Amino acid sequence: MMQKPAGAPQRRTFVIAIILLAAALALGLASLFLIRDQTPSGTGKALVGGPFTMINQKGETVTEKDFAGKYMLVFFGFTFCPDVCPTELQVMGAALDQLGPDADKITPVFVSVDPERDTVSVVVDYISNFRPGFVGLTGSMDQVKAMAKTYRVYFAKVENKERPADYQVDHSSIIYLMGPDGSFVKHFSYTTDPKAMADSLRQAIAN
Ligand code: NI
Repeated sequence: MMQKPAGAPQRRTFVIAIILLAAALALGLASLFLIRDQTPSGTGKALVGGPFTMINQKGETVTEKDFAGKYMLVFFGFTFCPDVCPTELQVMGAALDQLGPDADKITPVFVSVDPERDTVSVVVDYISNFRPGFVGLTGSMDQVKAMAKTYRVYFAKVENKERPADYQVDHSSIIYLMGPDGSFVKHFSYTTDPKAMADSLRQAIAN
């Protein structure tokens, strides 16, 4: 039988405890930084938004640079959406109406997550139902996927077995306000009413 020096198990336990404590501390610190990074705020690295290349309602190729200098109120959806999308675009339009002349500082943007059906002409028809000044973006599936990714927008096609052409698209319904430099300012959930959105926009663009 091997002889162990007295006190060795205790010392080992102590060393393990110290290692665990250090690991816990490191994890705690790391999560603090992660949480701070993931909290949307006007400071720090922009985690929502970024470069994109899309096609606008005039059929022109546009990038984030074409939107620089003005705020951008962005919503991702699809023209075939029965309910949430039209409601959201109406809310965005109504909020901008309430801003009066300040609305000129904000470009409302509809981004299609259904480029298969949302061709430029379909997008043109669709945005004409809403406040004048809406920009409608579509593109190739790759372009749409890339932009959705930078905006942390989820979307997925939901097949329709009886009528394949009438498929739906599940998608995030978040409205983003991006700053004149393209950085994230704030977001609105789809339950925000026009008055609340207008108040919040007024406050954001005053700063
Ligand atoms: Ni929708």
